[in-house]
Amino acid sequence: MSHPDPMPTTRRTPRFSPPGDRFYRHLFASLRCGSITIDREGRLTSINDLARKILELKESDLLGQPCSEVLRDHPKLTSVFVESFRMKNQPNRAEMEILLKDERKRTIGFSMPLIRDDANQVLGAALLFRDLTQIEHLQEREQLKERLAALGQMAAGMAHEIRNPLGGIEVTASLLRRRLSGRVEDLALVDRIIAEVKRLNRTVVDSLEYVRPLHLDRKASSLAMVVQEAANTASSAQEGKSISLSMDLDPGIPELWIDPDRVRDALTNLMQNSFEAIPLSGSIRVETRREALPTALKSDFFLEGENGKSLSFDSYAVVRITDTGKGIPEEVHDRLFYPFFTTKQTGSGVGLPLARKIVEGHQGILDFESVVGRGTTFIVKLPLLTRKDGAPLTPTAAEMMEP
Ligand SMILES: Nc1ncnc2c1ncn2[C@@H]1O[C@H](COP(=O)(O)OP(=O)(O)OP(=O)(O)O)[C@@H](O)[C@H]1O
Ligand SMILES: [Mg+2]
Repeated sequence: MSHPDPMPTTRRTPRFSPPGDRFYRHLFASLRCGSITIDREGRLTSINDLARKILELKESDLLGQPCSEVLRDHPKLTSVFVESFRMKNQPNRAEMEILLKDERKRTIGFSMPLIRDDANQVLGAALLFRDLTQIEHLQEREQLKERLAALGQMAAGMAHEIRNPLGGIEVTASLLRRRLSGRVEDLALVDRIIAEVKRLNRTVVDSLEYVRPLHLDRKASSLAMVVQEAANTASSAQEGKSISLSMDLDPGIPELWIDPDRVRDALTNLMQNSFEAIPLSGSIRVETRREALPTALKSDFFLEGENGKSLSFDSYAVVRITDTGKGIPEEVHDRLFYPFFTTKQTGSGVGLPLARKIVEGHQGILDFESVVGRGTTFIVKLPLLTRKDGAPLTPTAAEMMEP
């Protein structure tokens, strides 16, 4: 006997409630800049870890203490901070040199908004700052930009010059290889030449790709196929290691509107890094998933040069590449995507910047998580595009005939 449902349930979206104190505490803790706030009496009301790190503040129990006490080693900063209450126009952005122990200097860029309540009464002040020591002065940064642009042009020119003779060396070595059939030791030497030439060629091609503007040849493509091809290329390069590669590909992901060759290059670089990060044995896992955007973030998507097509974008196709390699130390996180940053003897440091350029060219996101000694996950998110009128993404025959 079946019972009628006593109370039909309706699906309700969770009620929105504004974030509380905890949310704002975590917000401050997560900011990628140093943050210190004081009340009207100049007492410290919050300080995040990055602020402690940049200013080298060791004590743990700082809240409620006078700011002049907390920042006693930084009198210049204290006076600017306390003075902020009296200023009409708090500096929106300013730079200052601070002195640390042992005469070390650090340049910080800071802004100092006053904190006001609904009645416009001042409750306190905030100091938000970043360490600019590595790229010190604005002028130097500008000059660096110009030099990098010139270097980019030079690299593109040199890449062309280098690739031709490289092709010649590879062909000649292959001819030599044929003549040496049966001579195992000599063959091994020639094989090394060919492998090194191939590697050098990849470096040159990647560098060239990195400096030249990205042109995407988009077509409806199977992500699973692209991932599989990248895995084949990357795993063929592992030598003498015992690494298991497992795949978990979501069959429910529709075709993506991407340049499959470029995305494959990006994924190959990431997987190659995973293979290289594992010293002798370990595992790599590649997963694909569909990830919906929170409702508030659903957005229209504009494809360059395809003004007529109205596309929307409400979820990502996500690829996660997880390795059990050595991990990435925190002190290099900021430099990881700089061109030519490498920790490998034979690396050129273009793999990651190029991967990021390709992913961002697709208006996607490239991110990573890593624990030293345990491993790393690189995450690629590509917008899953659908047409607003609900029609399939692949152009219909009729559309393709349109002028
Ligand atoms: N999965 C990973 N695990 C640990 N470290 C990594 C990982 N991926 C990248 N890295 C670090 O980031 C650096 C930069 O990587 P990138 O791919 O740009 O250059 P590379 O691998 O050194 O050289 P190339 O890719 O040009 O041959 C690497 O040298 C390595 O230190
Ligand atoms: Mg690499």
